[in-house]
Amino acid sequence: MRTRGAALLQPDAAGLARAAEILTQGGLVSFPTETVYGLGADARNDRAVAAIFAAKGRPSFNPLIVHVGDIAAANEICDFNDDARCLAAAFWPGALTLVLPLRPQAGISRLVTAGLDSIAVRVPDHEVAQGLLAAFGGPVAAPSANPSGRISPTTAAHVRDGLGHRIDALVDGGPCAVGLESTIVACLGAPTLLRAGGIPAEAIAACLGRPLATSENPDAPVSPGQLLSHYAPVGRVRLNATARQDGEVMLGFGAMEADLNLSPTGDLTEAAARLFDCLHQLDAMGAARIAVAPIPDHGLGRAINDRLKRAAAPR
Ligand code: TXA
Ligand code: MG
Repeated sequence: MRTRGAALLQPDAAGLARAAEILTQGGLVSFPTETVYGLGADARNDRAVAAIFAAKGRPSFNPLIVHVGDIAAANEICDFNDDARCLAAAFWPGALTLVLPLRPQAGISRLVTAGLDSIAVRVPDHEVAQGLLAAFGGPVAAPSANPSGRISPTTAAHVRDGLGHRIDALVDGGPCAVGLESTIVACLGAPTLLRAGGIPAEAIAACLGRPLATSENPDAPVSPGQLLSHYAPVGRVRLNATARQDGEVMLGFGAMEADLNLSPTGDLTEAAARLFDCLHQLDAMGAARIAVAPIPDHGLGRAINDRLKRAAAPR
């Protein structure tokens, strides 16, 4: 956990160069977008992305939105169908997030997508966000820069008050123009509104020439439970296991004998960063029965346990 206060950076060339350097080193940088301030990390760096969840105190691994500078950069990480191309041309840069099929070779951390095979992506319409993305030259994962359960920040002061001691730097770009998170639309089949936001659904429907499908609950459209069941391992999972029983593959934590270990040193940030990879590896090994060591239920451990409970739930 970071204990010193965040460096306050100006939105000029020197400030953005420093912010980009911190991202490259795996640090956390809060930056303004037109919607709300984001809490950014290198979307390709497992540990940096895990640190986002730790800083926010998020109890579960919700998938994060990836920010890129333009449509060409988005094309490198996901596949666009005709609807998506039409919406991106009309609304990017802007307060629209598209959920699209992830390109598996794009190098995006599995923690960003919570193990899903789709990814949420957007091109922000803010000079400072654009300047940072250009200086960094890669995809930036960024949820809103607020502690979990608190409202989204629309000024640098909000960010400093909520997360100032848990992040490396904060770029002050003044108040956010939109102040409401982006509208999220999935283009995986029929275009579907997943979250109402900065761009009205009517404008999106007008662009597509047909109404958007809506999920049952527009604010929490696809429940984390549904999302997470996508990557539950094939094998049966037994939690809080202190030793391997006959026929089980052991997923360890801390110093112990195990087939795979989330973190031999008992580091929860490392364990979070490796969790989805380990579950995929267990599938690749053909593990039919999986024993999982106890994980301390604090900090990121709560998110890990939340995820493991879903993996162990009867299916
Ligand atoms: O305006 C915004 O969108 C701000 C700024 C910083 O860009 N970001 C933001 O991120 O609000 P966040 O993490 O608070 O919201 C991300 C939401 C998740 O709660 C999830 O519902 C949805 O995006 N999401 C992300 N990836 C998804 C996916 N693959 N499938 C479905 N929903 C996804
Ligand atoms: Mg949020």
